[in-house]
Amino acid sequence: MFRAAIAMVRVVVVGSIHMDFYVKVPRIPRPGETVLGSGFIMSPGGKGANQAVGAARLGAETYMVGRVGKDWLGNALIDNFRANGVNSEYVMQDPSIHTGVAFILLEESGENAIAVAPGADSRVAKEDVDRALDIIKSSQILLLQLEIPVDTVVYAAKRAWEVGVRVVLNPAPAMRLPDEIFRYVSVLTPNRIELAMLTNTRIEEYSELVSAAKILLKKGVRYVVVTLGAQGALIVGHDYTELVPAYRVKVVDTTGAGDAFNAALAVFLAEGRDIREAVKLANAAAALKIMKLGAQSGLPRRDELESFIAMYK
Ligand code: RIB
Repeated sequence: MFRAAIAMVRVVVVGSIHMDFYVKVPRIPRPGETVLGSGFIMSPGGKGANQAVGAARLGAETYMVGRVGKDWLGNALIDNFRANGVNSEYVMQDPSIHTGVAFILLEESGENAIAVAPGADSRVAKEDVDRALDIIKSSQILLLQLEIPVDTVVYAAKRAWEVGVRVVLNPAPAMRLPDEIFRYVSVLTPNRIELAMLTNTRIEEYSELVSAAKILLKKGVRYVVVTLGAQGALIVGHDYTELVPAYRVKVVDTTGAGDAFNAALAVFLAEGRDIREAVKLANAAAALKIMKLGAQSGLPRRDELESFIAMYK
């Protein structure tokens, strides 16, 4: 099932870059309440950056396009890209604004609550995409999320689609999107809440997941892959629906599980695997991630993913 990469593929990520500040808490406080936590950790994050690091660790030649501030956090995050083999020549240091940050409350169960101050993410613009256009054109997959301005996301997707580069869009965090974008997207990866938001539907039953996903297929998406946490991932295509089960592991921190999933999905689709195989490997990457604390620390390297898959054969 798991084959070594035949040739190196190229993945470009346009998206957010954060420093994450974690506090471990016995439970997420209610509004107005203070709870005493048990630890503090600062570690690199941001959905875009997590997905770029995840793709690079799995062996793709990975380019990050985005912005950080011209501050010590921005410097540290650029160093982090270098340390992980992500090309950061298209990451601009914007002197007019702070680096994006996320404050994460992490419960013992592994569940979390996150507040983001986007800072430089909010300035990622069409010009940033244009600057990276040659590299996008020469890539197999453009990977996008929604922590930068939506106009920029739509523009990046359109430019990639025009030159025949496949677009994987992780529509997180949940928001409505202009219909135009769906025709540029090859694979869309919402969770249940994001799917409900994108389709303006209530989703309670399994059958409602499928019908909501089909709304997006009609708008031009080729595959919708609904991530369902411990239940796995549901693939909905025009003539094909399959629930690919998740791997059962001990949960330490679910932060970045979706990013691990999307990074792996992008890399394995770029390598030419079919959607089912790519989703199975993406489930494994997410399982490995949630066993470790920190958005990026658990993102697996290719050999780790290979050993994990072999264990489950
Ligand atoms: O997906 C996880 C990420 O969401 C965290 O790293 C945090 O920065 C937020 O953007």
